Amino acid sequence: MTGEWRKDFPILSSKVYGHDLVYLDSAATSQMPRQVIERLTAYYEGEHANIHRGIHHLSEEATGAVERARARVAAFVGAEHADEVVFTSGATDSLNMAAFGMAGSLPAGSAVVVTDLEHHSNFVPWQQACEREGLEFLVCPSSDGELDLDALEGLLRAHEVRVVAVTQVSNAVGTLTPLERIAGMAHDHGAVVVVDGAQGILHEGVDVTAADVDFYAFSGHKMCAPTGIGVLYGKRRLLERLRPARFGGGMVDVVTPRETTLGTLPLRLEAGTPNIAGIIGLDAAIEYLEGHDLGAMRRHERELLAYATERLSSVEGVEILGHPRRRCGLVSFNLAGMHAFDVAFMLDKLGVAVRSGHHCAQPALRSLGVESSVRASIAFYNQRDDIDRLCQGLERLGALRR
Ligand SMILES: Cc1ncc(COP(=O)(O)O)c(C=O)c1O
Repeated sequence: MTGEWRKDFPILSSKVYGHDLVYLDSAATSQMPRQVIERLTAYYEGEHANIHRGIHHLSEEATGAVERARARVAAFVGAEHADEVVFTSGATDSLNMAAFGMAGSLPAGSAVVVTDLEHHSNFVPWQQACEREGLEFLVCPSSDGELDLDALEGLLRAHEVRVVAVTQVSNAVGTLTPLERIAGMAHDHGAVVVVDGAQGILHEGVDVTAADVDFYAFSGHKMCAPTGIGVLYGKRRLLERLRPARFGGGMVDVVTPRETTLGTLPLRLEAGTPNIAGIIGLDAAIEYLEGHDLGAMRRHERELLAYATERLSSVEGVEILGHPRRRCGLVSFNLAGMHAFDVAFMLDKLGVAVRSGHHCAQPALRSLGVESSVRASIAFYNQRDDIDRLCQGLERLGALRR
């Protein structure tokens, strides 16, 4: 089955330093299948026009494609209405939109809780928005990569928490957090829950209605779509109250020298020309995933991750970071006596692409007592041989060190 999917990804047949490429960096950006690339070419060759502003044929075609994409995204995440899907430039943009759009309207004395497992994109915007608005900024701790839900309950009881911002999957450790439970806890205390789905959307997926999630943010480029396109899903009544961060064309109703009234959702949050090609690419990516048995892809990923964790544990000197109850999409580790950067640098020379550093999640790594790690992240187009090549590379590095 994997072979079937792999052949759709032209880049996976590349050579790097004379070796067949082993791509284990999908958490940074996933690769695009030929079907998405061809859809983008078709758009640029035959459909390119601006949307919502013209009545000529091409503009209407492009507008239709964007609105069909919105409906497909809404169905993909389980949203009740298509206008609950706002197109952004990526998860970072979406989370900034949520943080700065909400913080200004929270009552004095309110608190926002994030967790120490967050990517900086779901940490820093809240920290900055709290500082700007004089709100309390609280961090829920984790222990060995697992979120401490007792500590979260304690924070919810002791403070006027109005927002809980949490990741679905930690990009540094791979922890899969219990979203429904966290949403329930937040709601019991009158807080909304904002979920960073950047790492969860492809490997785990979401049903925002079933999980009762208030906001859900993700990037297209981590789910086989191009870079520069993302989504902020929000419950309609909450999006309607969100103050836009950007103003301009397309999002207004009436503009006079005295005042401007804003348009309706979702356009009131999409000032300016959106990334039309990106939206069409995202649509094609979801069409590809749904048309190629996403359930089987996710099962394959889980088996592969279990294999990777087991194989890595048997490599001498490898220490896996964190032991969460459920891990998703990636595994982080260090090789004794070697800096993570050097490990990634040398693996690259063997054709193996992994990431090293703090993964834009400094609090998460510090909670595990390290400043950096090597991260191997997978997608459904990976195969066991990729993990074997990674482990063989690490064994070679280990031997060099001895
Ligand atoms: C968990 C998580 N959140 C947010 C982001 C930010 O995504 P982007 O850079 O596409 O905005 C990333 C990117 O690595 C991530 O892994």
